[in-house]
Amino acid sequence: MSILEQAESIKKELNEEITSIDNLNDLANLKVKYLGKKGLVTSLTRDMATLSIEEKKEVGRISNEVKKEVTSIIEELEKNLLEKELEKKLASEKIDITLPSTKVNVGSANILEKLVEEVEELLVSMGYDVVEGPELEKDLYNFELLNLPKGHPARDAQDTFYTDGDTLLLRSQTSPVQIRTMLANTEKTPIRMICPGKTYRRDDDDATHSHQFTQIEGLLVDKNVSLADLKGTFDVIAKKLFGNDRETRFRPSFYPFTEPSVELDISCFNCGGKGCNICKGTGWITVGGAGIVHHNVLDNCGYDSNVWSGFAFGFGAERLAMLKYGITDIRTFYTNDLRNKETFDRKDAE
Ligand code: DAH
Repeated sequence: MSILEQAESIKKELNEEITSIDNLNDLANLKVKYLGKKGLVTSLTRDMATLSIEEKKEVGRISNEVKKEVTSIIEELEKNLLEKELEKKLASEKIDITLPSTKVNVGSANILEKLVEEVEELLVSMGYDVVEGPELEKDLYNFELLNLPKGHPARDAQDTFYTDGDTLLLRSQTSPVQIRTMLANTEKTPIRMICPGKTYRRDDDDATHSHQFTQIEGLLVDKNVSLADLKGTFDVIAKKLFGNDRETRFRPSFYPFTEPSVELDISCFNCGGKGCNICKGTGWITVGGAGIVHHNVLDNCGYDSNVWSGFAFGFGAERLAMLKYGITDIRTFYTNDLRNKETFDRKDAE
């Protein structure tokens, strides 16, 4: 067979064989068969040494042409197969973004904190300042100047957690911040303040009591302040927290630092006042204490009680949050029990 015939037959064979190649692996084998060291194309020049110069030129030229042609045919197919393979890969690895994603647990603000903020926001809009006081408090402010001298029977329930005998204690109420605010206001101008904060007292820890809890204290000092002002303010707070249908009422009570003193009740948001297990059948729920600031307290703090008057109130923040969010045990606020997470995970409270 002449070199030309050999070349033609190689090309013919390749063109036939290539039609059945459909993957890169087979193509690699085919490449070796034609272009490898012992391949068909290479074999065209195997006997070069025995040829004359003229023949060498002829064989060289023809074998080069064949090599080029074979290479381009193989490369063309290689390109096609690579493209197909990529398409297949893209199709099989496609991410379906319409699938629901894996649920990520995102935390939410503590509902006690949310409740305090809600009250703060409301009262700030009514011109109140938010102030803070220390949790380690002087007996003088926590009791004495609040009209609770040593030996006063009303101390009994709160006489607790002293750190140094009888002058410093973990505050049993946020009311001492009233004293601090009045004393600090040396110009003796009107006061509107609220003070949310932690308090500590000797208590049996049960479903509704904890030795540590949060109070929201309020104090307003001005001229001609009456119970009607307190009632109006309480009304706004109750409606903001528990809905516009809430009614409020005062019940006579006793606190040494207010005179008269009242318990703050709201009509039950659950039964609307008919009586249910939340309001224990009474139709009313007590949410705090309040009253007209006792003249002794004003005078103790340098506000002449013949000129000045005021009202004060104190809410239990956990109690408000428990009522608002249907929590039945105050201890869930402090136990870090993950089973209660759902109760606290209140996106609707955000
Ligand atoms: N300090 C009271 C308590 O812990 C609550 C309270 C009652 C606060 C009447 C007040 C108030 O400011 O006027 O039980």
